[in-house]
Amino acid sequence: MQYKGWILGLISAILIFTGCEALKASRPVIPINEYERLIAGRIDAQYVGIDRCLSACHSHDKIRRDFEASTMGAQLSRKSGMPVVDCESCHGPGSLAIEGITPEKVEEDKNKGIETKCNYETLIDLKKLPPQALSLICLKCHTANATFNLHQWNSSQHAINDVSCSDCHRIHAGPDLIVSPKETAQMCYRCHSNIRAEFALPSHHPVPELRVFCTDCHNSHGDVPEKLLRKGVKEQCTQCHADKEGPFVYEHADLMDNCLNCHLQHGSVNNNLLQAREPFLCLQCHEGHRLSPTSDMERKVTLYGRCTDCHPRIHGTDIPSQSGKGRFVQ
Ligand code: HEC
Ligand code: HEC
Ligand code: HEC
Ligand code: HEC
Ligand code: HEC
Ligand code: HEC
Ligand code: HEC
Ligand code: HEC
Ligand code: HEC
Repeated sequence: MQYKGWILGLISAILIFTGCEALKASRPVIPINEYERLIAGRIDAQYVGIDRCLSACHSHDKIRRDFEASTMGAQLSRKSGMPVVDCESCHGPGSLAIEGITPEKVEEDKNKGIETKCNYETLIDLKKLPPQALSLICLKCHTANATFNLHQWNSSQHAINDVSCSDCHRIHAGPDLIVSPKETAQMCYRCHSNIRAEFALPSHHPVPELRVFCTDCHNSHGDVPEKLLRKGVKEQCTQCHADKEGPFVYEHADLMDNCLNCHLQHGSVNNNLLQAREPFLCLQCHEGHRLSPTSDMERKVTLYGRCTDCHPRIHGTDIPSQSGKGRFVQ
């Protein structure tokens, strides 16, 4: 009984460690010995090294070329005999996979018109691994210390929701392991298609125009603020819109602590990314105007007017109004 409790404890420790909320929720718990085997590969297999792997059986020339041209492949110093990263780092030990496969057999098969296949099933079945386990294969090298911005990975919305490293880093799609800034948005839209619609609205951050990138504001690996933001909302916004940062002598109450009180972050049907059109935006909190101009003017202002025609310093100002108050008029 005690033994069972200990195993359960260990399983939950691993699950917590790897941030497997979703794993817990949606799948039966995998017994720990099976889980270990999933990520370790066959313990009765030996590491054979990239050369034997590829010369004996691999026809995936493009995979090899791309890999060797990548940052990760460039860590492979075969002359030293101590490659840092090779095929088996992720696919597991390969001796069983190439057992019985010799250059002669490859030649023989070729003459028969068939392609020699290694015993893939003895390698780690990457495609069937639970996402968190798949990420663990990367994290054994990319520890938070080695790849600094992975510090918050385990608690990130992505890790918790079954997104794994290779969903975004397509290891064998080409030599670039990191999506280029130009293609980032398309990569994100694969899963966040609703966001594409937001950037298609008339007023939007110039992400489609490639002047601003999702990753300017978001850290895909997770970060301390919510919504995978790199900084708190105000700090994030004023990084590029420094003139709105303040402090001003006359502030718009505490509204300016969160730019999203009035703006949307991605796109809006209203100009200036506003949450609502003027004057309605302002009328949510202020009564229509009580100034003395003609009643005509008054009606115009409240019904059709842009309050910021007269209150242009809406984000705050150091200059008082005529009456000596902070009305954001100059
Ligand atoms: C950094 C980890 C990593 C390394 C190193 C790596 N692979 Fe892979 N490989 C993966 C992952 C993850 C997949 C499955 C998902 C995918 O296709 O992106 C995969 C899939 C494959 C596939 C199946 C492709 C398919 O479309 O079915 C082959 C073949 C392959 N790898 C060969 C190699 C060879 C050969 C090397 C060494 C030159 C290598 N891999 C190095 C992670 C790696
Ligand atoms: C055996 C160790 C090892 C494993 C396993 C490993 N990596 Fe790497 N990776 C490295 C090293 C070493 C580098 C090059 C140095 C660096 O950029 O940190 C690298 C580089 C990278 C880079 C490029 C960094 C750049 O600046 O260009 C990405 C992206 C990456 N790895 C993703 C992954 C993913 C995704 C996985 C899992 C499928 C993985 N790695 C598994 C060791 C590893
Ligand atoms: C949602 C997509 C996404 C996921 C999931 C993801 N990455 Fe990244 N990663 C990126 C992007 C985009 C960059 C480019 C840097 C940037 O601008 O944020 C990057 C950069 C990197 C780099 C380059 C060094 C650096 O910090 O800039 C490494 C290494 C890396 N990722 C490894 C990983 C590993 C390991 C995992 C899984 C634990 C992972 N990534 C999960 C999108 C992702
Ligand atoms: C493989 C699918 C996938 C990819 C690719 C992907 N995401 Fe996600 N992302 C998710 C899932 C799943 C969630 C959690 C559920 C949700 O909130 O939609 C999430 C959550 C988020 C959240 C947090 C939402 C919240 O409410 O906290 C942000 C922000 C985000 N992703 C941004 C990005 C960005 C930026 C990229 C591209 C660099 C990206 N994602 C790429 C699947 C993905
Ligand atoms: C100018 C900064 C900025 C850029 C660029 C940006 N975002 Fe966001 N995004 C935000 C902010 C701020 C939030 C948080 C909104 C909140 O707290 O309600 C957010 C929220 C999200 C969310 C959570 C769901 C939601 O809308 O509340 C997702 C998903 C997301 N962004 C994806 C993306 C993708 C994908 C891209 C690129 C195509 C992108 N973002 C570009 C600032 C940005
Ligand atoms: C990476 C830099 C960057 C960040 C971060 C950023 N912006 Fe912007 N913002 C821009 C650029 C570039 C434009 C387009 C300016 C232009 O077209 O002249 C813009 C335009 C705008 C506009 C005017 C839109 C229009 O239709 O004319 C508003 C409002 C705005 N941003 C608010 C925000 C808010 C709120 C945040 C925080 C959620 C934010 N910005 C974060 C770069 C940024
Ligand atoms: C009280 C509501 C409100 C708040 C809060 C607010 N804004 Fe605005 N913002 C506006 C209005 C209204 C406009 C349109 C101004 C106009 O039409 O002259 C605007 C316009 C902008 C513009 C585009 C025009 C310009 O002046 O460059 C940017 C950029 C901007 N805001 C950034 C921010 C940032 C950054 C924050 C947070 C620090 C923020 N806003 C907070 C109401 C607000
Ligand atoms: C979310 C609510 C909210 C929105 C939206 C809002 N305000 Fe305000 N505004 C306030 C608060 C709260 C104060 C501070 C009131 C006070 O100090 O008596 C204030 C102060 C002001 C003042 C100074 C009044 C004074 O007594 O000094 C002016 C002018 C003003 N707002 C105009 C606007 C305009 C124009 C808009 C639309 C672009 C707007 N506000 C949008 C809440 C809002
Ligand atoms: C025709 C120019 C004009 C327009 C348009 C205008 N205002 Fe004003 N507003 C002023 C002036 C001038 C003052 C007084 C400044 C001073 O203190 O000397 C003022 C004062 C205010 C005050 C503080 C006085 C009070 O009543 O408490 C608020 C709040 C205000 N405006 C909100 C708005 C809103 C909301 C709108 C849009 C519906 C708007 N204003 C449109 C010119 C205008």
